[in-house]
Amino acid sequence: MIDIHCHILPGLDDGPKTDEEALSMCEVAADDGVKTIVATPHTGREVYQTSAEDVLAGVSHLNGLLGKKGIPINILPGHDVYVHPEIIENIKKKKVLTVNDNGKYIILELPVQSVPFYVEKVVLDLKAIGVTGIISHPERNYHIQKNTGVLEKLVSSGALVQLTALSLTGGFGAPAQRTAVSLIHKGLAHIIASDGHSTEERPPVLSPAVKEAAKFIGEERALEMVNAKPREIIS
Ligand SMILES: [Fe+2]
Repeated sequence: MIDIHCHILPGLDDGPKTDEEALSMCEVAADDGVKTIVATPHTGREVYQTSAEDVLAGVSHLNGLLGKKGIPINILPGHDVYVHPEIIENIKKKKVLTVNDNGKYIILELPVQSVPFYVEKVVLDLKAIGVTGIISHPERNYHIQKNTGVLEKLVSSGALVQLTALSLTGGFGAPAQRTAVSLIHKGLAHIIASDGHSTEERPPVLSPAVKEAAKFIGEERALEMVNAKPREIIS
């Protein structure tokens, strides 16, 4: 499996603090059957402005440690980008990283409470420069929990949707779980990722969520959300 959204790099944001914690998370992911993790430290929020240079250095550092320890996980670079009209400029200036730094897909984080009016324009402007926005965990957004119409519009404008694994299994509460299931039913969810931050509280695992999604769309389509679709995105 491929996890395209995970806070796996040590000491950069609210993910693991030390190399040891990051390696423990990688062991948990490997045990679950994950082979590739896109490291997505936060950027664009005042508290977390992880630079592209720090992400790239962190990725090669962690891959080095994984090689030494013989943990079969490959880390790729990325960013969890708080949605903002300046994203386009920041991509051009190489301040924010697209998924696997390939200029094709970018992870967009929404505020928790609302969906800002400019998100649709950001999605369209990204499309115009050949980048597909991936709306991360919309099932945790209070506005979308009440009305999925705004998300339908974003998907029609070309966005993809990534659900958080823990939402599907109930770890973010009933409204998030209900919304995640409803988005799957409506065909408004394309990828499942862990958004992992730690080994225990928000672990980097995908298979429990795949099992849950399979109840609604069957095993083959549920597996596509952690295999074929993310593979296309990192390629
Ligand atoms: Fe995240």
